[in-house]
Amino acid sequence: MEKTFLMVKPDGVQRGLIGEIVSRFERKGFQLVGAKLMQIPTSVAEQHYGEHKGKPFYDELVSFITSGPVFAMVWQGENVIATARQMMGATNPKDALPGTIRGDYGVTVGKNIIHGSDSLESAKREISLFFKEEELVEYTRTV
Ligand code: CMP
Repeated sequence: MEKTFLMVKPDGVQRGLIGEIVSRFERKGFQLVGAKLMQIPTSVAEQHYGEHKGKPFYDELVSFITSGPVFAMVWQGENVIATARQMMGATNPKDALPGTIRGDYGVTVGKNIIHGSDSLESAKREISLFFKEEELVEYTRTV
């Protein structure tokens, strides 16, 4: 089953949005298979955002994502990568539609509440960067 990596960024944690965000993905019907509140080490942030190295906002990006705790998650379900991106809304909250997470709660592109993998390849890379295999669970929904 497809898996994706989602992360409530430091602004989302500070603003008390973990529950709201988890709830949206639960109600949609996706399955939470891993989660942890953590402070990201700079070395991990640099790996996570490696593709943005050299861009004008790179230093700000690394410094912001390591500025406070994040809530890292792995979600599972059919087409979860693309559907989660739709539920998150456009990267820049000014372009994100109402009803999406960034459309409802975000204002600036740097502090845009949530990160989500953009492809199968990045999902695999990001999941293994943040989670050990034994930190993920397998279970069947019974209700
Ligand atoms: P994210 O999905 O975490 O992946 C890369 C992040 O870079 C993105 O969300 C934005 O928060 C951030 N980002 C993209 N463009 C800019 C920008 N112009 N200025 C600051 N941050 C940006």
